[in-house]
Amino acid sequence: MNVVLTEDVIHLPQVDESLFDAIAENIAHQGYSIHPNALPTDLLNQLHQHVHSMSDGNFKRAGIGREDNLMLNQFVRKDEVCWINGESLAGKAWLAWADELQHYLNRHLFLGLFSFESHFAHYSPGDFYKTHKDAFKGESNRILSLVVYLNPDWTKEDQGELVIYQDDTRDELVRVTPSFGTIVLFLSEDFPHEVLPATRDRYSIAGWFRVNGSGINRVDPPR
Ligand code: OGA
Ligand code: MN
Repeated sequence: MNVVLTEDVIHLPQVDESLFDAIAENIAHQGYSIHPNALPTDLLNQLHQHVHSMSDGNFKRAGIGREDNLMLNQFVRKDEVCWINGESLAGKAWLAWADELQHYLNRHLFLGLFSFESHFAHYSPGDFYKTHKDAFKGESNRILSLVVYLNPDWTKEDQGELVIYQDDTRDELVRVTPSFGTIVLFLSEDFPHEVLPATRDRYSIAGWFRVNGSGINRVDPPR
């Protein structure tokens, strides 16, 4: 029998249980998890095509929280972002994959993750995001950060690494090359991190799994 797939069918990404299992294990034991070549290839290609099909006008200067002030902001981060709302097929497929991961982590780690928000980010050559945390204890409902890189053929010379630090000592824990398909997860409140300047355009998706946020007194970076 011939199966005909039309263009507008959403291909639900295949779920790799062993990847999800490794993520759960790493998060439970060290609070972060890094996997090269990890995102399903179809999904990765779809996202890569989509990010390059968008015009520069889709990307807006990123904020750093409620007190966002462009003067201060540009010393902290220089990237531009575009929130993913599921309007595109690529966006839908990405949100479906993140949803599978959310449910897996809730079943295995009892994190009580309730929702997910994410954006594409574009760092032009020289752009950076200085050391920061994605959430502060008691002030945010962001629990787990997820980053995926959309940069084929990235080499060491291209730089632009993500550096993750130990919270108390500020020792460098790990330096991640933003290669195509690498995914990074870490507990949002526990790991200061920064994005070093790159010598070429750098594309990523950054996302946050959240708990239901009643009683939270700080608004996260505006969308
Ligand atoms: C962020 C972030 C890391 C990266 O957007 O908060 O830390 O490597 N991104 O793009
Ligand atoms: Mn961050």
